[in-house]
Amino acid sequence: MASSLVTVLRSCSRASRAITTVRFMSNVPEDTVYGGPKPQNPNQRVTLTQLRQKHRKGEPITVVTAYDYPSAVHVDKAGIDVCLVGDSAAMVVHGYDTTLPISLDEMLVHFRAVCRGARRPLLVGDLPFGTYESSSNQFRQPLKITDLPVELFDRDIDFGCLNDAQAVDTAVRVLKEGGMDAIKLEGGSPSRITAAKSIVESGIAVMGHVGLTPQAISVLGGFRPQGKSIASAVKVVETAMALQEAGCFSVVLECVPPPVAAAATSALHIPTIGIGAGPFCSGQVLVYHDLLGMMQHPHHAKVTPKFCKQYAQVGEAINKALLEYKEEVSERLFPDPSHCPYKISSSELDGFLSELQKLGLDKAASAAAASAEKMEHSDSPSSAAIL
Ligand code: KIV
Repeated sequence: MASSLVTVLRSCSRASRAITTVRFMSNVPEDTVYGGPKPQNPNQRVTLTQLRQKHRKGEPITVVTAYDYPSAVHVDKAGIDVCLVGDSAAMVVHGYDTTLPISLDEMLVHFRAVCRGARRPLLVGDLPFGTYESSSNQFRQPLKITDLPVELFDRDIDFGCLNDAQAVDTAVRVLKEGGMDAIKLEGGSPSRITAAKSIVESGIAVMGHVGLTPQAISVLGGFRPQGKSIASAVKVVETAMALQEAGCFSVVLECVPPPVAAAATSALHIPTIGIGAGPFCSGQVLVYHDLLGMMQHPHHAKVTPKFCKQYAQVGEAINKALLEYKEEVSERLFPDPSHCPYKISSSELDGFLSELQKLGLDKAASAAAASAEKMEHSDSPSSAAIL
């Protein structure tokens, strides 16, 4: 335990030494107590205060997922407000059928890559399935001293809080080791509300997520829209309100009918972020691969949701490029002279050829001489085929 803490502290101090202009913990406070407010830099991290201002003015909040450095750079360059490192990574990056298998360690790799690429959007990291659910006051078992290993007897332990620790510990790792600014957790059962509250109380901003919560497909019976009956619709609104009460700064509404999303948005004073929930939310979120139309692989086509608008056909462009590359390599059309930037002078080449001969590599020397000859006579792309 102590040695893993030392490892974390060491890696944090290494990170702060390496990154001089951008903090590892990415959110920069707007008003600094020491030194006073700094002038706003357009590349400065979006803050919760800015999101609240946008919401107050009725301006839609934009959210897109990212999972790695390149997707994070693109999301940043587009000026998106919030970059969500979602556990949808399990499906769109790792190829699983659900979000359940991805681990915290795997998510931490995604968090860190996104943190390096996206410097402006607020970064929200999803807590993966199995890393926060035991934080329930309801399910707290009173521990008897005899239930504990002997080595814990003389430690100063708050037995009543043992179960609450999981959600807070996970959220702390997401910020400390992953470089996120806030976390998102799914669901609105009393145990999740408790977890959200404990995390907020520990000083970490929490985004809630209600409606279709993919981590609960086991009990939901699959990826099913929610809020389609009176009871289910009321539950969506009440759950969103409970998450607000717990201190969440925003709530994702996934796959619910637009009137249910409109009711939740009206009932809350924090922003709602819709996905498959219609236009009456305070903002919208889409999965990066879905909105870019990257789902040409049959597995990906399977997981593209119905509500998603594809703003590009990036998958088609990728397929076309890969087929062309394969064809050009097979036909010896690539690389042509324009892709051979590294030259050797004729005197160096002569020396090289005689060294090869001295080594008894006459065939290699002939190959080198012939290739030099061909390169000389093929300095235009149209003559590449002779190579
Ligand atoms: O994991 C994810 O990407 C999400 C969004 C779909 C909201 O939770």
